[in-house]
Order: sequence, then structure tokens, then C-alpha cells
Amino acid sequence: MEEDKKAGNQFEGKDVYVKDVFNDIAPYYDKMNDIMSVGMIKRWHKFMFKKAGDITGFSVLDVGTGTGELAFISARKVGPGGRVTGLDITPAMLEMAKQKVGDLDLPTEVEFVIGDALDMEFGDDLFDLVTSGYMLRNVTDIQKAVNEMYRVLKPGGLAVVAELAKPRNRVIQWGHKVYLNRVVPFWGRKYDKGKVIDGKQPAYDWLTSSLEGFPYGPEMLGIFRNAGFTDAECYVRSMGAVNIYVVRKPGKAQ
Ligand SMILES: C[S@@+](CC[C@H](N)C(=O)[O-])C[C@H]1O[C@@H](n2cnc3c(N)ncnc32)[C@H](O)[C@@H]1O
Repeated sequence: MEEDKKAGNQFEGKDVYVKDVFNDIAPYYDKMNDIMSVGMIKRWHKFMFKKAGDITGFSVLDVGTGTGELAFISARKVGPGGRVTGLDITPAMLEMAKQKVGDLDLPTEVEFVIGDALDMEFGDDLFDLVTSGYMLRNVTDIQKAVNEMYRVLKPGGLAVVAELAKPRNRVIQWGHKVYLNRVVPFWGRKYDKGKVIDGKQPAYDWLTSSLEGFPYGPEMLGIFRNAGFTDAECYVRSMGAVNIYVVRKPGKAQ
């Protein structure tokens, strides 16, 4: 597994492992997100929607929606005339998302569907906006997932995708490494208890190692361009710990 990861972050059984990881951590995923991101995740969300612009009345798809946070923000922003769908491969994550809906008083319903980002059961040219947060590290074929985002977007539609990255500055890189290798496992153990999943590493060790060999910055922009996206921009946030990609499917917005 270690060798495979270094060669590009893919390894045999990754699809099953990733699903089992998220099934396991679903009950405490939101809490850990806040701890791990030092509360920054909400700012990254805010930035994503600033880049998406006015989405009133839009049809939005959130790919790898997990516990639904990005889908809920979309629902508030599209308003009663819009539609929001959240897709995820892990049933337990979607269960958590559905449990939260009751407390939210959203202006439009969010439809949660189980599905694979690599082969989505949606027609072509369907959504005005595709969002995705922190999913791409987890898939077995990044290009295929990005191609699917492109396919389901309407011409002229935007994809706004957030992913972890690595800082370029050497000093910050050092701090980032310490954080990932010491702080994340420390907090991870409090919740995952070091439990091995499918004979592989515990859940929160995956968070750290999934960054090994994972493309970011210009390399990731290349993957978006290969899919056909244009106007591709990468916004570096939190000193390089997170990148937000904003890319457009060419064509005239309807
Ligand atoms: C790190 S979580 C991110 C969840 C959410 N987007 C957020 O911002 O908190 C990654 C999510 O991607 C989902 N995922 C991984 N591989 C997937 C795939 N092939 N298709 C759909 N969802 C997938 C996982 O089940 C998990 O819920």
C-alpha cells in the first residue's frame, strides 16, 4: 500500500477501504472537521460560494457531499426556486446529513442520493453548479471523477472544488508536516482509537497519508483542463493547506 500511494495515491482495495473509513467515522466526522481545520472549514466554504457568485434559482450538485454541509449552504443560497442534490458513496455519511435536515429550516429540499462520483447516474448538461469538498483524494481515478463533473454540468456552468494541498514555503511546509504527522494522529486516536480498517491504517492516519502523491495546484488544474474545463483558477487558502479550484465548462449559460 505504501509504495502504491507514493506512486500516485492509488492502491488495491482503495474503494472499499475509503467507504469503510467514512462509514466508521460518520458519527464524529463534523466534530473532527472543526478540530482538524481549526475552525477554518467554514471560511473555506464561504470562499467557495463567493467564487460561485449569485446562484439564486440554480440547480446544484454536491459530489462527495458527506454529511451535507456544502449542500446545505447551496440550499440556502439557491432559495425556493432552486434544486440541490448531494451525492455520496457512503451510506452512513448520508444518514448523518439526513439527520441534520430537520433542524435547518432550509428554503428548498436537498435530495441525498447514494452514488459513485466516477459513474454518476445523472444525464448530461443537468446542473448549473457542481461543488465538491475534500472528496478527490478519496477516489480511485481523479480524472474520471473530474470528467463526470464536467459531463453533468450545463454549458457555461461552474465547478467549485476544494481539496487539501501542501504549502510551497519551506518553513510553513515544516509546520504543516508536524501538524499532519503529530497533531492529526493525536486527535484522530481520541476518536478512531487506532482501529485498523480492512487490515489497513486507522481512519485518521488516512487523512495524512492520502496527501502523499496527491496532485494539487498546477497539476490539478491540468486534470480539470484535460476534462475540457476552461477559465481554470486555483486559489490557495490557509498558507497552502487548502486549494480551491474554480473551473468553467465552456458554452453559453442558459
Ligand atoms: C472528506 S469527506 C468530505 C465530505 C464533505 N464534502 C465535506 O466537505 O465535509 C469525503 C467524502 O467523499 C465520499 N466519497 C469518496 N469516494 C467517493 C466516490 N467514489 N463517490 C462518491 N463519494 C465518494 C466519502 O464517502 C466522503 O463522504
